[in-house]
Amino acid sequence: MKKIGIVVTDPHDWTASALSCAVTERGMEPVTFSFQNTTSDISSGRIIVDGMDITSLEAVIVRDLGPAARNGAVFRFDILTQLEEMGVVIVNSPSAIARCANKYVSSFMFGKNGIPTPKTVVTDSLDGAMDALSGFGRAVVKPVFGYKGIGVECVRNDENGMRKLRDIIEKDGVVYIQEFIPNNGRDIRVFVVDNRVLGAIYRAAPDGGWINNLSQGGRPEVCTLTEEQEALSLKAARVAGTVFAGVDIIEGDRSYVLEINGTPSGKGIFESCRVDVAPAIVEYVCGMV
Ligand SMILES: Nc1ncnc2c1ncn2[C@@H]1O[C@H](COP(=O)(O)OP(=O)(O)O)[C@@H](O)[C@H]1O
Ligand SMILES: [Mg+2]
Repeated sequence: MKKIGIVVTDPHDWTASALSCAVTERGMEPVTFSFQNTTSDISSGRIIVDGMDITSLEAVIVRDLGPAARNGAVFRFDILTQLEEMGVVIVNSPSAIARCANKYVSSFMFGKNGIPTPKTVVTDSLDGAMDALSGFGRAVVKPVFGYKGIGVECVRNDENGMRKLRDIIEKDGVVYIQEFIPNNGRDIRVFVVDNRVLGAIYRAAPDGGWINNLSQGGRPEVCTLTEEQEALSLKAARVAGTVFAGVDIIEGDRSYVLEINGTPSGKGIFESCRVDVAPAIVEYVCGMV
């Protein structure tokens, strides 16, 4: 029986469980593991996780790589890359996950491919950051490798804004600063699998807030995309090289792609739209092994 790995942090996570069920339903064996007890032996080429050699897997679906110290995160990536070089199918591919995880790289990629995205400046210089801020007036700062709305903050062109930018540059070495897009208190998460939109939800921030991530208290609601939004989502997923992706869109004077997530949760789409994204992901993987 073909063995399909599923990389998780929390084995009880909704998406991990759905992927595991979908693999079983296709007559394959799901092997759920987290990169927490991993030894790579360069001389033998064996990569052992919890006593199991993961080089014998046919494919690995990456639900979530989990938090790790910097070298640990690089190690997890390197293992995925090594597995891929050994012929194991990795979905999403490590290069696609890396493109999505890095907001600088994604913004650059959107710009280059004509995908509308808010004006963004990335700089290690306070002068550069203040120049950007004075142009934007109201801006949003985000960690380059952030997720779940953590560390996303509003800054204005005043003393406090300057202090905030200085602190971020001192702490992170670089600041990602983006024009704030005035909106009606919600954004859109689109779930794309294998070049198809499977579902979309609005996420509305809690009262008085403007950060719409579900993990920050955003409320999900079914969303019907415009044709343009659907096309933008498919294009973002394609240029990122993802098989499955969560594309964040904000509606201002037009629709902008904010970011693309290469390890998205399927839970919000399931709960709001009753669409389980896992069988489509597994179907794609089946076609590759
Ligand atoms: N430029 C912006 N203008 C207005 N709101 C924004 C902007 N960028 C982000 N947000 C809000 O912050 C949330 C998190 O930003 P996002 O870029 O998706 O980063 P994360 O990876 O942390 O989810 C978005 O879902 C949206 O609600
Ligand atoms: Mg987001």
